[in-house]
Amino acid sequence: MKIFIDTADTAELKKAFDTGLVDGCTTNPSLIAKAGRDFKEVIAEICKMTDGPVSAEVASTDYETMLKEGRVLADIAQNVVVKLPLTWDGLKTCSDLTADNIKTNVTLCFTAQQAWLAAKAGATYISPFIGRLDDLGMDGMELIAEIRALYDAHGYETEVLAASIRSAAHVKDCAIVGADVATIPPSVFNKLLYHPLTANGLDAFEKDWASTGQSIL
Ligand code: G3P
Repeated sequence: MKIFIDTADTAELKKAFDTGLVDGCTTNPSLIAKAGRDFKEVIAEICKMTDGPVSAEVASTDYETMLKEGRVLADIAQNVVVKLPLTWDGLKTCSDLTADNIKTNVTLCFTAQQAWLAAKAGATYISPFIGRLDDLGMDGMELIAEIRALYDAHGYETEVLAASIRSAAHVKDCAIVGADVATIPPSVFNKLLYHPLTANGLDAFEKDWASTGQSIL
């Protein structure tokens, strides 16, 4: 499963890319607002940090304007993926951008039937929001599993990009049920590595090694 980082904070992104384990980035209007910087400038900066896919979301909701915005965003860099809402206009825009060989990420997906329509529109990625379903007492992971089964049953190539991830357990479960990508907030990405027994175990090994007075080099 690929790892994308869900942020427009370039300092946090740099730290994540430096691990060598991150494959791409996703942003949305809320993350851009939080970063407090010029949208196109941030996307261009992120695209220079990685050759991997960088999702940039349109701001309008009508077909004509989304199509224009999508083309402007795609022109920023070759690795831009145009993020579109799961509406009829969004899907129509998705079909047209796909026909122009522009990569797309259809977002705000909450049902498998929505994901099916996005695949029919030729979406490169579908973004089901796990955490927001869990927040309502529903089962976000079940949605990932349903979309996986539906896409596999019909041979759709649209990649399942699990979004709205809240915990390290979410990431692990996404990998188990077969998501192609998990887009992870920086705070959760850092938690993937940590375990107190790893940290305490390493402390003990360091102390015991020092007591031997030996050196490998
Ligand atoms: O980028 C879309 C998604 O990951 C948003 O997550 O936490 O706002 O539900 P969240």
